[in-house]
Amino acid sequence: MIDVMTKMKIASLPFLVSIVIILIVNPTHMTTAKDKVSWHLMPMPMYLEAGQGKLCIDNSFCIRLTGHRDSRLPAAASRMLQRLQRITGIPFTASPAGETSAPKEATLEIHCSGSGEPVQSISADESYTLEIDTRRARLAAPSPIGILRGLETFLQLVDLDDQSFFVPAVKIIDRPRFPWRGLLIDVSRHWEPGDVIKRNLDAMAAVKMNVFHWHLSDDQGFRVESRRFPKLQKIASEGKYYTQTEVREIIDYARDRGIRVIPEFDMPGHATAWLVAYPELASAPGPYQIERFWGVFEPCLDPAQNRLYSFLDSFIGEMAALFPDAYFHIGGDEVHPKQWNSSARIQSFKERNGLKDNRDLQAYFNKRLQKILEKHGKKMIGWDEILHPDLPHSIVVQSWRGQKYLAESAHRGYLGILSYGYYLDHMQPASFHFKMDPLDPENVELTQDEKKLILGGEACMWGEFVNPENIESRIWPRTAAIAERLWSPVDVQDIPDMYRRLEYLNDRLELFGLMHASHYRAMLQRMVGDEKADMLKTIADLLQPSGLGGRVRARKYSSLVPLNRMVDAVLPESKAARYLGNLIDKLLADPQRSPDLDQKIRESLVRWRDIKDPAKPVLEQSFLLAEVEPVVDTVSQLCTAGLKALEYIESNEPPPKAWQLETSLLFQKAEKPQAEMFIAIAPQIKKLVDAADAIR
Ligand code: ACM
Repeated sequence: MIDVMTKMKIASLPFLVSIVIILIVNPTHMTTAKDKVSWHLMPMPMYLEAGQGKLCIDNSFCIRLTGHRDSRLPAAASRMLQRLQRITGIPFTASPAGETSAPKEATLEIHCSGSGEPVQSISADESYTLEIDTRRARLAAPSPIGILRGLETFLQLVDLDDQSFFVPAVKIIDRPRFPWRGLLIDVSRHWEPGDVIKRNLDAMAAVKMNVFHWHLSDDQGFRVESRRFPKLQKIASEGKYYTQTEVREIIDYARDRGIRVIPEFDMPGHATAWLVAYPELASAPGPYQIERFWGVFEPCLDPAQNRLYSFLDSFIGEMAALFPDAYFHIGGDEVHPKQWNSSARIQSFKERNGLKDNRDLQAYFNKRLQKILEKHGKKMIGWDEILHPDLPHSIVVQSWRGQKYLAESAHRGYLGILSYGYYLDHMQPASFHFKMDPLDPENVELTQDEKKLILGGEACMWGEFVNPENIESRIWPRTAAIAERLWSPVDVQDIPDMYRRLEYLNDRLELFGLMHASHYRAMLQRMVGDEKADMLKTIADLLQPSGLGGRVRARKYSSLVPLNRMVDAVLPESKAARYLGNLIDKLLADPQRSPDLDQKIRESLVRWRDIKDPAKPVLEQSFLLAEVEPVVDTVSQLCTAGLKALEYIESNEPPPKAWQLETSLLFQKAEKPQAEMFIAIAPQIKKLVDAADAIR
């Protein structure tokens, strides 16, 4: 049977129609003859055709590279073997050329038919084909980047059954939907050392992301070495910055993985760090100090001074040589108007230059900045506030305030990428991000030509509440859902299936070196010690952190506040709550009220209800956990309410009014953040209580 989704894919690949297609099925429901394979691919490829049988992976596995020689390929083959070893436990050794044994016997043949670009560009060809039968696998691509993408797919296919490790027979033809699939990491609010960045680059490569957007300066710190303006790192970084050697190493590391690196130096606002070092560039007299709090602050570069432009010419010249990508991010967001408005000199400059408001003044600044970038061979990218008709169409606009800004930039003929809806610090579930599509017709009405201007999107990991210990768990695995939205065909929309694959990927990422799970465990261990960490994890697994807004409202935070509380450790999305929700949805949709489902729900609720008593003395022993005690009380009350609701549902007996009132008050409390966390199972249990309330 050929389903609608597959037909659409075939329509977009007319040359395939001529092939006799024996079996094409919706990949998410496909199994092999042995019923063992379920596809774990993430992002899902453009086209997948199941074959018959499998290719065993044992210690005879070997790789042969043919075609174009690019130094990234043997390195990638060798990394791939190391990871295959991690998956299987089988020791493999690669020759320096990335080949494991005599060429003729290769299990995986890799053929690259073209050369790569010295500096990876937005038009890099990332396509590849992967064909696996019972004897061998063949990966072919027109460029080294396509080979890198295909190797990740191959690794995601590796599975085991009752006989061996294997990859299933399959034919995959793949290429991305959007050419710009990025991740922003803010290293200014909290510093992230190079090894954290590298682990994230590995994870990005695993899900075929291709842009690392490095937010290097903000009010709280300047994070890169400038040899021309050394006060930037000496005074404005508190010793936390990347040397130019480290920057080059990270750029090379990213390039090896098919990832472009775009630096962001935020200006003219979010500019305190520049001004700590060079107060003469400010719109108001200094001195300035490194900002310790979160928010939008007054210090602002002075666009009315010529010396600012000579400074930037020299600085950008230096950075343009360090960062090879064609694009250079200038920030441009959230310019605080105070300093501009209170300077008579700046007001008179505006008047003399016919600049009617601060938007015009910022556009004036951007125009001069863009010329400097152009002089140094760079294209400008900035946040959506930079959109102004005075700027050339070579710029890229990054929309963070809403889809409408993306649409507006496209209507005006500008290239754009979407970040609105991809803010990881808002602590939304993966499904929320997955549904956010840069071309969603409900949000952006674009002509065919305008659609071509939408290059993709970027997930954003802002740094207020992340440090090297918890950043990975805030980025991963949710970012993989964004990676899939930007790579896979638009009709990949099945949310339960996305979660199934995401969970699998989550484990793989840790296996390949990401530390999101181990750091989570270590943070819990810090609070209670090793022995009790499992018990604390049972509680933590039911909780989720408030997003940026909620936390900033909760108390006055600064960069000096340790991120060592429960809210800093708990994961953005509770798997336990999702499982419970799935069981409850199934139970409520089942007119027979299956006793099996009922039993499973009951078991979980009883376990969580009863954790309160053993937890109490443990929580009391740790000053970090005093605030969690009332949360555990609420969890227990919620579970009690859920169990009672189950009884009413089972007996089909309407609950008494007093109980309804009591539970309604309970949910009023439980749905608000406590200790800056949400109880993730509360909305699920509410469904049971609502179903009980509906009994007549
Ligand atoms: C931003 O979030 N201010 C780009």
